[in-house]
Amino acid sequence: MVSTKTSLAGLEFDNCFMNAAGVWCMTKEELDGVKNSAAGTFVTKTATLEERAGNPEPRYQNVPLGSINSMGLPNQGLNYYLNYLLDLQQTDSERTFVLSVVGMSPEETHTILKTIQDSDFRGLTELNLSCPNVPGKPQIAYDFEMTERILRDVFVYFTKPLGIKLPPYFDMVHFDQAAAIFNQFPLKFVNCVNSIGNGLYIEDETVVIKPKNGFGGIGGQYIKPTALANVHAFYQRLNPSIQIVGTGGVLTGRDAFEHILCGASMVQLGTTLQKEGLYAFERITQELQSIMEEKGYGSLEDFRGKLQYISE
Ligand code: SIN
Repeated sequence: MVSTKTSLAGLEFDNCFMNAAGVWCMTKEELDGVKNSAAGTFVTKTATLEERAGNPEPRYQNVPLGSINSMGLPNQGLNYYLNYLLDLQQTDSERTFVLSVVGMSPEETHTILKTIQDSDFRGLTELNLSCPNVPGKPQIAYDFEMTERILRDVFVYFTKPLGIKLPPYFDMVHFDQAAAIFNQFPLKFVNCVNSIGNGLYIEDETVVIKPKNGFGGIGGQYIKPTALANVHAFYQRLNPSIQIVGTGGVLTGRDAFEHILCGASMVQLGTTLQKEGLYAFERITQELQSIMEEKGYGSLEDFRGKLQYISE
């Protein structure tokens, strides 16, 4: 039997699939659903220090080739997710889960991360530097100076395993510049990519979501080539100690195979999970296993990062 198990930050996971932050992760009940599915782990909805209602509805729409959202970071607040995870450490002590966070300011981000540092949380923390949907707050990771400053300040006190969720980059120079920053820090992973920010989807003559007059993050099939490019660009540039989580446009086992071929150690389902539900984990795992069997690969290590180029 082929294996889709993986490891991240030295921690083992029975399966390389998990949800993307924002999907099936707002409440304990949803998180329990992912935990009890075929997924290897889950990540919480990105938590801010205090709970947030987020943007006005409608703020998420499935569209034929993906989705558009402008949720605006609705969440239950840090303590809700942190306490849930601390409880799980008692009942599911052999498994590891991921807490996604970001502050509404650098100061709030530090307050959140210091709270996690001072807690008994033993899982992974994902710092979301890429939310495109809070009016007036640009995506942090498009500001390289700010990103470097935040990471420099964080690693003065944060010693637990930390990764960052990135927006897509679109220029080779930006891949180089971003990687040069990330390589300075003991990051455990980068997650490529969040939605492509601020797209516009129109039906007849009208936008399909209310916030920001219809502008929202694009996910699903639209974004797979961009996601693969970001996974591979960072796989090529980052220190081997910084692993890649691949997110974006995974509808099938073949899509997941491509993310891993580009260098992903873990693969997240966002729009597909939202559209299809928890069964997507089982289906896509089986599809990936079939591809691996056909190709004679027994484990993800057999093909991870081994994307082939066209030589002369
Ligand atoms: C949101 O809550 O607006 C989505 C979060 C994100 O894209 O990071």
